[in-house]
Amino acid sequence: MTAILVVDDSDVERAIYVHILETLHLPGITTPVAFAESTKALAWSESNDFDLAIVDYNMPEINGLEVISALRVNPAHRETPIVMVTSATEHDVRYRALELGANDFVTKPIDRIEFIARVQNMLALSRSYRKLADRAASLSDEVARATAGIIRRERETVFRLTRAAEFRDNETGAHILRMGLFCAEIAVELGMSQDECDMMLMAAPMHDVGKVATPDAILLKPGQLSPEEWVIMRQHTLQGYEILKESESSLLQLAADIALSHHERFDGSGYPNGLVGEAIPLAGRICAVSDVFDALTSKRPYKDAWSIDQAVATVLAGSAKHFDPAVITAFRSALPRIVELKIRNADLPVAM
Ligand SMILES: [Fe+2]
Ligand SMILES: [Fe+2]
Repeated sequence: MTAILVVDDSDVERAIYVHILETLHLPGITTPVAFAESTKALAWSESNDFDLAIVDYNMPEINGLEVISALRVNPAHRETPIVMVTSATEHDVRYRALELGANDFVTKPIDRIEFIARVQNMLALSRSYRKLADRAASLSDEVARATAGIIRRERETVFRLTRAAEFRDNETGAHILRMGLFCAEIAVELGMSQDECDMMLMAAPMHDVGKVATPDAILLKPGQLSPEEWVIMRQHTLQGYEILKESESSLLQLAADIALSHHERFDGSGYPNGLVGEAIPLAGRICAVSDVFDALTSKRPYKDAWSIDQAVATVLAGSAKHFDPAVITAFRSALPRIVELKIRNADLPVAM
């Protein structure tokens, strides 16, 4: 249910318009809302919707032209049909009204039949605008729903891929989870956007996905690896990259970068490419810090868990050598939250 707005300072003419409109019994249209003063009409239009405005030109204070331009400024009334009432001689006024956004005119004194025809045409126009707007809104809802579905399925695929890799590794599922959480906290401190932080949260758990290709004898070996075995072990970076690269998904592209670069070192002594400094993707530099911190504070078959203090000291000492100093600064700022996440998502009680 919407309304027809009538603005005319003449009591007689206003009463005539209202009377004609009321006798039309227009479907879906409530009683016309009529104002003698344009200021009051404009104030009403701020918070009310209507299907058609009938505006007299010749009014004291704010004339009809000014009413039209004020209505058109409001996005809610940009498309609402406006009919202006003028005298037959006011050609310049009509041209100006057209420029300002009037849709049609009626001439004083009002011809009842003509007035009704114009009103009905304008209401038909208004209905078309509304249908178009509703269609656009429902299309954009559909697109938003479909996009959300795609994102949900992409996240599920990623989660399952990561779980597949976990089965092969002696690192726990909690490590994979913590990698995402720590990296997202560091990303926040680096001033990355909410979207970028969310991407780090989802992509970092895939850092070791390449280990699905590492032979059991090496991956599950309880003792130290020989130099030859290390060569094979290091391949998990390249293999992870091979699995994830060339995806259209920006999440998998980021995961591919991380898989390839999470063992690079800031000073160039890392693998597989010996990249130096900012030539290492930022995501890889963030993962390097999170991965080492979490490995040090976790129990592994070949070592006990270090205390948080010991691990933090070791990570900080690696600044500018193993790690990017800017990422280390962010890690320090995020440390209270990282320690909390470590405790909340621990495999075993955390040594403090
Ligand atoms: Fe790795
Ligand atoms: Fe890891």
